[in-house]
Amino acid sequence: MKDRLPVQEQVDLQAFNSLHVAATARYFLELRESTLLEEALAWAQERGLDTLFLGGGSNLVFAGDFPGLVVHMAIRGRHWEQIEDDEATLVLGAGENWHEAVLYATRSGYRGIENLALIPGTAGAAPVQNIGAYGVELCDTLVSVTAFDRETGQWLRLSRDECRFGYRDSLFKRNTGRYVITEIRLRLSRSKPLQLGYRDLEEYLASLPDREPDALAVAEAVMAIRRRKLPDPQQIPNAGSFFKNPVISEAEYEQLKEQHPDMPAYPQSHGVKVAAAWLIDQCGWKGYRDQKVGVHNRQALVLINHAGGSGQDILALAGRIRESVRERFGVVLEMEPGVVGGAGLPPLA
Ligand code: EPU
Repeated sequence: MKDRLPVQEQVDLQAFNSLHVAATARYFLELRESTLLEEALAWAQERGLDTLFLGGGSNLVFAGDFPGLVVHMAIRGRHWEQIEDDEATLVLGAGENWHEAVLYATRSGYRGIENLALIPGTAGAAPVQNIGAYGVELCDTLVSVTAFDRETGQWLRLSRDECRFGYRDSLFKRNTGRYVITEIRLRLSRSKPLQLGYRDLEEYLASLPDREPDALAVAEAVMAIRRRKLPDPQQIPNAGSFFKNPVISEAEYEQLKEQHPDMPAYPQSHGVKVAAAWLIDQCGWKGYRDQKVGVHNRQALVLINHAGGSGQDILALAGRIRESVRERFGVVLEMEPGVVGGAGLPPLA
């Protein structure tokens, strides 16, 4: 069995997480075909090992080593299905790089995911946190997710509704480890309206001479904005937004607004979403750094591993940030990336 499955031992995971923290996988498997998935699960089960499915590693923190089997999802492949006059379905293997898929679709003349350019990670990880940026979320175009349900041992094709998407949330996020995503399907269109309303994007496009942007121009604008504000994980290790934007009650919001009339806020169907970056910034964290870890100097939501910090160093800093935001604003921030190999944030005081 081990010959058929090229399982490696004691593999360094530093190159497999965008925070670039040191961690070791007891066993490690590069999974290129979905047909081997059940075999890999059986291999781990026979040995009483936990399994961790890893995409681009851009939304997780290794708090320590992983004593089980890490399966790196490397199932590639992209093709078009159901091509009609205006619409087509793009099928992506879980291991496809998300940003390359955006460029591919956009350059092929299809709209729907151009605002999600330059988001790090893989196609298979995209539904887990329902990636979103500049007014668009993955769930706006996603039609189905192919996944193996480890609880029932069945292969499923889950519709968008069945995925129970929310802001940075999904069925997969709420049932960590249960579903292994191998493929996603997106419904894209040649003509649907572009989403240009997000403030940063609107301002950027207004500064360009071309007032009728196409999807490629929007993707390029998003790339330029992201490069200006967010650190490139290849150069400055990070895991994107470290906290979600919290949704607070109307009453809490009214109270906060009295003291902080300039606090950015976005009304929701239930409550008001406030900008975590602004709260953190107000507490003076933007640009903070100690010897190893810090906070990005252009986006306070992004924690950075400057020089050999561990997952524990990152979590300790995140804990201090969360504490100070709670003290100052009474708002408890929720961490966005997942934690593996140890405990999450230190408890609030
Ligand atoms: N702001 C500050 N200080 C900062 C950064 C931002 O005061 O250091 C203020 C801004 O002026 C603005 C507000 O906070 O009024 C919101 O900032 P921004 O538009 O940059 O977006 P965000 O809410 O901080 C979210 C996503 C990002 C996504 C951007 C653009 C979450 C947790 N984050 O950030 O997603 O790129 O919107 O759509 O929802 C990610 O998930 O990894 C990520 C980068």
